[in-house]
Amino acid sequence: MGKALTTKAAQTRPPFSERQIPLELFERMRAENLARWPTGAKVDLDEAVAYHQSLPLHKQLAWVMRQAQAQGRCLTQPRGGFGTLEMQLALMRTLDKEGLADVVPTTTDSYTRNERFEQAQKGIEESEKLGRSMLNGLPIVNYGVKTCRRLIEAIDKPAIVLSGTAMPKLTSEIGLAAGYSGYLGSGIAYTVSYTKDVSIEDGIRNYQYLDRLAALYQERGVELHRRQPGFLTGTNIPPSIAIVVCVLDALLAAAQGVRNYGLELGQTLHLVQDAAALRVCGELCQEYLARRDYGEVFTPMISLHWMGAWPHDEAQCAALVTYGGTLAAIGGAVSVTTKSTHEAFGIPTPQANAEGLRMTRMAIYLARNIRLDGLPEFERECDLIRREVCPVVDKILEMGDGDVALGTVRACEAGVLDIPWSPNRFVKSRVLPARDADGYLRIFDAAAIPIPKDVLEFHEQRLRQRAERERCRYDRELAVSSVTEISEPLAKLVPFPWSEQPSRKTP
Ligand code: 5AD
Repeated sequence: MGKALTTKAAQTRPPFSERQIPLELFERMRAENLARWPTGAKVDLDEAVAYHQSLPLHKQLAWVMRQAQAQGRCLTQPRGGFGTLEMQLALMRTLDKEGLADVVPTTTDSYTRNERFEQAQKGIEESEKLGRSMLNGLPIVNYGVKTCRRLIEAIDKPAIVLSGTAMPKLTSEIGLAAGYSGYLGSGIAYTVSYTKDVSIEDGIRNYQYLDRLAALYQERGVELHRRQPGFLTGTNIPPSIAIVVCVLDALLAAAQGVRNYGLELGQTLHLVQDAAALRVCGELCQEYLARRDYGEVFTPMISLHWMGAWPHDEAQCAALVTYGGTLAAIGGAVSVTTKSTHEAFGIPTPQANAEGLRMTRMAIYLARNIRLDGLPEFERECDLIRREVCPVVDKILEMGDGDVALGTVRACEAGVLDIPWSPNRFVKSRVLPARDADGYLRIFDAAAIPIPKDVLEFHEQRLRQRAERERCRYDRELAVSSVTEISEPLAKLVPFPWSEQPSRKTP
């Protein structure tokens, strides 16, 4: 029996590499995958392709993203998911109509993300019984293709599946067949952000499946939008580390045949650094893609509202939401993913979520024609990020003898690719970032990441400056306090009133 299983597994598990999964093998992989759950068995690719082709262009995310980029627009997109179809229908209508969202989401629940569909089913039943959502998203696999299509029909915008998972094989089959034209997630970023025990190899394999599926639609004339998810570790990720991962994830997707690949970057909340990161990320991804003849892959940039800890004060949150729109617009992002004033408390009501969208949209409008190109500090930051990213990507490719998939796994083992505060045990997580005196995210300790010495000296100089100004020690505490900083109450962040200044002297 053991032997039979090994042989069977080998038939649906290609040798690990970046190479495109051959069609015949992929068909066997699909059959095995779809048989795992009753709604999977109902996926009909021909019918799904015909459905996508029947959608108007303005409901197709790949087309909408291309238009937005061509017109220099910054789109708004929230996150959002509730535990039953009826609640989700109402939510998506609200986000579309009251929030004026350009892209309407469906976030899946945590059971679905972890492929625990029996528990998701119980969650649906309890939510129905209690009349409120007992799940943190919609269990799209339980509902299946036909039912999910009602959501696509309920809105007049493109829809995207947001399933923060390293295991997207069923959610993608169901979501894409239902008519979602976008799917967020990638093999490296989500595996290192969301899982402890999934190996980098398995995470990459799972997304190779999804990217190959997107390519299968593409071969049949349906353009889908795939998207790299930035980082969701809830801590600080310096732009250069996020960009290295963007480049690697993009190369992996392109190798499977993906042609529309959005790149997300979380905001650091420094105007100059965020704008520089957006510019350099787009440029470097294109550069590395072109070197491998994937120059035709479209890679629009998406900016994410602050992904770290949020304050509990709604007024402070409103500033973060609004400023997030400003940052996205000035950075030239094609879309921004929004949060709301409820972020610190849990899942937002549909109304608060829609408000977050409108605050962001107004801020984008106000900043629409402002760019930083030519500003010395901006150009310096762009140059710095390039000098951090390229040596690391080049080293990772070299470690894989040119193969991105192999290089990534080996680089994680060696700490050459390293992620701060990753929950994943296949990542060393020794690198430590911290905010400098001017609010830039710098690297306090690069551990084994091969960033050039002179660049690291610059980071150190900036962080020492902060320690001096704050009269604190130059140590790891700089990194830790930078993680909680933004969530602190206002009174802790700004100097206390003049009347309480210790040095006050009567003239
Ligand atoms: N509805 C709305 N937003 C959600 N998020 C996660 N699940 C939901 C949901 N069901 C958002 C939160 C979280 C981010 C990763 O996604 O803002 O911080």
